[in-house]
Amino acid sequence: MSRAFRFRSRETFIFVCGLVLAATAYTGAQDNARTVAAGVYTDAQAERGALTYEASCSGCHRADLGGGTGPALTDRRFARDFAGKDLKTLFTKISTTMPRNAAGSLSEPVYLDIVAHILKENGFPAGQSELTADGLDGIQVVAGKPKPPPPVGDFSYVEVVGCLTAGPQNTWMLTRASEPVVAFLASPVAASSAPAPPAEIAAAKRLGTETFHLLDAMAYAPETHKGQKMAVRGLLIKLADEQRMTISSFDMVAASCSE
Ligand code: HEC
Repeated sequence: MSRAFRFRSRETFIFVCGLVLAATAYTGAQDNARTVAAGVYTDAQAERGALTYEASCSGCHRADLGGGTGPALTDRRFARDFAGKDLKTLFTKISTTMPRNAAGSLSEPVYLDIVAHILKENGFPAGQSELTADGLDGIQVVAGKPKPPPPVGDFSYVEVVGCLTAGPQNTWMLTRASEPVVAFLASPVAASSAPAPPAEIAAAKRLGTETFHLLDAMAYAPETHKGQKMAVRGLLIKLADEQRMTISSFDMVAASCSE
């Protein structure tokens, strides 16, 4: 009885020792943990990386890293495949398998520059010293921040919804229109996986207080859509006294413009 008790307590003792050791190791690791959010590359490095990325990677992963024939290198996909791992995992993936049509064809410093560019595009800040090959396995990848949408400017490709109204001298206007939002030209990949037509997405959009003079509306049988709620995509042209839009898509959202 008492032997059995002693045995058990020794087991407990060993177990507690184990816990203490594990806890020490754990806090040790926490102290050294450095993540990609800690400024692990420089701006100059990311700028060099952007140039090589453009030349060697953007053809498949797109200039904005949004993904084309190759997967997106940002947002959820980036987090799913790389968050929680060390930066060496990402580096090794790229330096041994990419560009996919010429794996390993770039030099180590060039691959490091590209990693810096990818980190920057995922919203991680630059720091004081360059990313080096030695440091890679001590840096942990965490999920990035999505980039804010680009500001709407002159000649942006935008989408608005509004009421089609006849203007003076055979012109056509979109009145009570929504604020313009940047619309992205669908890539072939995105188009095949996104079946919702623009009109369906736009149906949910609210009218606003903007007015747009539509250029070349005559080509879209405007008489038949007079007074209807329309979704329009095209280039925005801002003049001192009015906003104009070219038309690249013109879809009816609702047969009347009351909301
Ligand atoms: C010819 C097309 C092509 C080129 C060029 C290319 N890639 Fe890729 N890339 C792919 C494809 C396809 C995949 C998915 C299959 C795979 O993981 O190997 C991929 C996967 C990746 C992945 C893994 C993404 C993930 O979430 O699993 C990374 C990172 C990557 N590429 C980075 C790059 C970089 C950096 C370059 C330029 C140096 C580059 N790629 C050039 C086609 C390409």
